[in-house]
Amino acid sequence: MKYNSPRGTRDLLPKESSIFRSTIKSILNTFKLFNYQELTTPIFESTGLFERAVGATTDIVEKEMYTFKDKGDRSITLRPEGTASIVRAYLQSLSSFQKQHVAKLAYVGPMFRYERPQTGRYRQFYQIGVEAIGSNSPLVDVETMVMGVAALNKLGVEKAEIAINSVGCDVCRPVIREQLKEFVGSIKKNLCDDCQNRFDQNPLRILDCKNPKCQTYFMGMPSMANALCKECNDHFICVLDQLDENDIPYTVDSNLVRGLDYYTKTVFEIRSSLLGAQNAICGGGRYDNLIEELGGRSTPAFGFAIGIDRLVMVLDQLNILPDDELDIEVICIGIGTEAQNKSFQIMQKLRAAGIKGEYYFKNKSIGDGIKQGLLLGAKFAIILGEEEIDNKLILLKDLGSKEQTHYKSIQEVVKAIKQ
Ligand code: HAM
Repeated sequence: MKYNSPRGTRDLLPKESSIFRSTIKSILNTFKLFNYQELTTPIFESTGLFERAVGATTDIVEKEMYTFKDKGDRSITLRPEGTASIVRAYLQSLSSFQKQHVAKLAYVGPMFRYERPQTGRYRQFYQIGVEAIGSNSPLVDVETMVMGVAALNKLGVEKAEIAINSVGCDVCRPVIREQLKEFVGSIKKNLCDDCQNRFDQNPLRILDCKNPKCQTYFMGMPSMANALCKECNDHFICVLDQLDENDIPYTVDSNLVRGLDYYTKTVFEIRSSLLGAQNAICGGGRYDNLIEELGGRSTPAFGFAIGIDRLVMVLDQLNILPDDELDIEVICIGIGTEAQNKSFQIMQKLRAAGIKGEYYFKNKSIGDGIKQGLLLGAKFAIILGEEEIDNKLILLKDLGSKEQTHYKSIQEVVKAIKQ
């Protein structure tokens, strides 16, 4: 029986894992400049958390969650996103964060959604995200978006343009909903079954429909900005002004609603024209009601998540994949039992001195050992044969220039390699 990875999942082979790791490292370094600290939560949570946070009538909760009963008959869900878990952890350890004027939390890890797999859309995918909890200042929205753009710029993605909108608050959302229903009422019969259902249950979700045919009917939709209450409008204008002042390019997309129900006021996405249909590399916004909905005191918050799989696709297209050096510096080859043991010990000492290398486990030939070293990217080979054992010497071969030198001690070899 041969097993493959489940549909919608994939293995990240060493090269790709290394690219993922370097990408994450670079982004976390940018986040640190803005005083974010990492918080790691479990990969699964109680199902109710996501139903409550993400919204019972969203696609994620209705169709895409990996939910199962554990052996204690509890309903468990593999996290489809990170915000709900971070808010749950924030509330669970409130005393650790409460005194900070804004709790700035970062997270990274796999998320799970039972979606139809296609390029850039997986059932297990990776996100790196942030949540800034505790301030309703529009400058938090701006700072967080500035940071997202900075993280992408640092990796070399320079054309990261923000699409932004405001989805209002409890005061103006009913007006937005009515305006939308009035417009959609006349075209409703042309929309897909999901949209028909959403019309009554959660009309704003209609705008998030993934069916391209439905999207064509949404052109000419009245702008949500016109229906915002004064507070939401002032907030939105301030965010846009400050994006301008900080030279962050954006376009207002008045049909942008996002696929999760917790958003209030600002929502945004960063899209890349280098990707196909799944072109959002980052998405987020403000969620001022979620913390209270999950049992806390009314606390405003803002956050986003970057899809690492999609970001890496963009970096690949731009030919700027970051990479933790996979190559080794040195291969240690010994032929014959004594030389093998000796070169094995030398390898351990070189590693202790900070030199990355591989011991040649075969006892075939020096030539084969060098071939193996070159395959792994080695610049040097340490070779012990009969002559070296008899004379207590170590032979260091530069695999580039082919120059060979005998040394008497490991210290001398370390010095030569490091030079
Ligand atoms: P989201 O838009 O659902 O937002 O996901 C954020 C990013 O994750 C997307 O822009 C995309 O790059 C990536 N992504 C989502 N689904 C998939 C998939 N099936 N395959 C590959 N990549 C995917 C959230 O998850 C919110 N929690 C973001 C947030 C944080 N809002 C406030 N704070």
